[in-house]
Amino acid sequence: MQQNTVKIFDTTLRDGEQCPGASLNHEEKLKVAQQLEKLGVDIIEAGFPIASPDDFRAVHAIAKAVKKPVICGLARAVERDIQTAFEAIKPARKKRIHTFLATSDLHLKFKLKISRAEALAKIAEMVRFARNLCGDVEFSPEDASRSDPKFLWQALETALKAGAKTLNIPDTVGYAIPAEFGKFIAGIRKNVRGIRGATISVHCHDDLGLAVANSLEAVRNGARQVECTINGIGERAGNTSLEEIVMAIRTRKDVFQNLKTNVKAKEIYRTSRLVSSLTGFVVPPNKAIVGSNAFAHESGIHQHGILAKRETYEIMKAQDIGLDRNRLVLGKHSGRAALIARMIELGFELTQNEIDKTFDRFKMLADKKKEIFDEDLEALVMNEISEAAAEWKVETVEVIAGNKKKPFAEVVLRNSAGKKFRKTSRGTGPVDAAYSAVNAIVGEKVKLLEFRMDAVSEGIDAQATVAVKVETLPDGLHSEAQRAKGGRTYTGKGSHTDIVVASVKSYVNALNKILAGKERMKVVL
Ligand code: KIV
Ligand code: ZN
Repeated sequence: MQQNTVKIFDTTLRDGEQCPGASLNHEEKLKVAQQLEKLGVDIIEAGFPIASPDDFRAVHAIAKAVKKPVICGLARAVERDIQTAFEAIKPARKKRIHTFLATSDLHLKFKLKISRAEALAKIAEMVRFARNLCGDVEFSPEDASRSDPKFLWQALETALKAGAKTLNIPDTVGYAIPAEFGKFIAGIRKNVRGIRGATISVHCHDDLGLAVANSLEAVRNGARQVECTINGIGERAGNTSLEEIVMAIRTRKDVFQNLKTNVKAKEIYRTSRLVSSLTGFVVPPNKAIVGSNAFAHESGIHQHGILAKRETYEIMKAQDIGLDRNRLVLGKHSGRAALIARMIELGFELTQNEIDKTFDRFKMLADKKKEIFDEDLEALVMNEISEAAAEWKVETVEVIAGNKKKPFAEVVLRNSAGKKFRKTSRGTGPVDAAYSAVNAIVGEKVKLLEFRMDAVSEGIDAQATVAVKVETLPDGLHSEAQRAKGGRTYTGKGSHTDIVVASVKSYVNALNKILAGKERMKVVL
């Protein structure tokens, strides 16, 4: 019998985090995983444990701390990868090993350099190896959508016989078209012996902007697990966006035969904000479901219609995804209890240390800003999380700027040993001068690729959030391996009522990510 629940497999912390610039530190990954648990996803792919000791530690910490969802670790079809993935997920209450091997002739011939027969033997051996460690094994034939269907069916049958319970069909390069992908999934359901006892999953990339459409068409044809990421982040054009899948299934029950997901839609907006803040990937205003314009009706005709009857122009309510906020919550006279209560309402689980630090920052902000909104509180917490394990923290920033003299900046940073460093510099503008001073202290050489500033909330006294993207340069301080590989991109984000301070915070945030020395291999194998 067909299940009526579509399982949501979140890969924000694996495929999402793999995209250039998105690197999250340990603390940040844990916060995202805890929020994904609140969101109600069924499976969290917490990382690729063999990729680096840092990835291993993060997956292990998530496996220990996050109880409700299944915690999954990715592994190539290689014994050492699978064993490492298992060690990383071991503490989890519910665990899964996800192993993959390409099945398209293109990948077999040019990447893996093995024959079809060798691929089948490897799948059988490695899925069996994984099953001997863990009762829940998922197998992915990488580049499935460009594989010969008959060979793919054989590969899937082999994985099933060896003990895989979930068969995930990746459209690795985002090549599929919805009607064709739907038929492809129907073909798998029809032709793979033993598939009725397994879950068919799909994993789509958005190179043609069709990841969500392809995944939904797969669901209509029997897929009961969708792999996706928050805000659709991921390699290249990204992955299937979780919020779009969940809201499409929910909004169009007529089309999706009363299927449901276990996701608590009210947590969607909060999760989207958290992931955007921590990764530094800004959500475009016109992004479906979570973009700032998604529920905004500017035109007079629309506004009139909505006032008369909401359904004339709205198919979902902003409140459905938890977007009934921007309320004035606190001010200068609010105490610690009020702050903690509001933080809990906003869904933050803070340690005592985090509460203390956030309260200090809140008091400083309340001195500068009369009205403090939920978004301001979120920005405070994000700053706190990002700086928790950082090598460098921003102490003070002073600038002299204007259109007469060459702008001047003095920056003081504190390192993790508590030592303060002060540098001054001039530049084309106050931000340029301040960044030069930071460079003089940190010594890391990077190129600034993107700089974006947004207001956190409304009003002339609003905090600014600055998001930057930087690229490492060959003569920077980062590791040998990174140097050899050439420029990697990193994002940083920071907020403050002063735009230059926000700019410096975001820049230092990006540099801290580089200095965390996160070196990982690519999943191209
Ligand atoms: O896109 C892809 O093929 C993947 C696999 C590892 C599932 O991410
Ligand atoms: Zn992928």
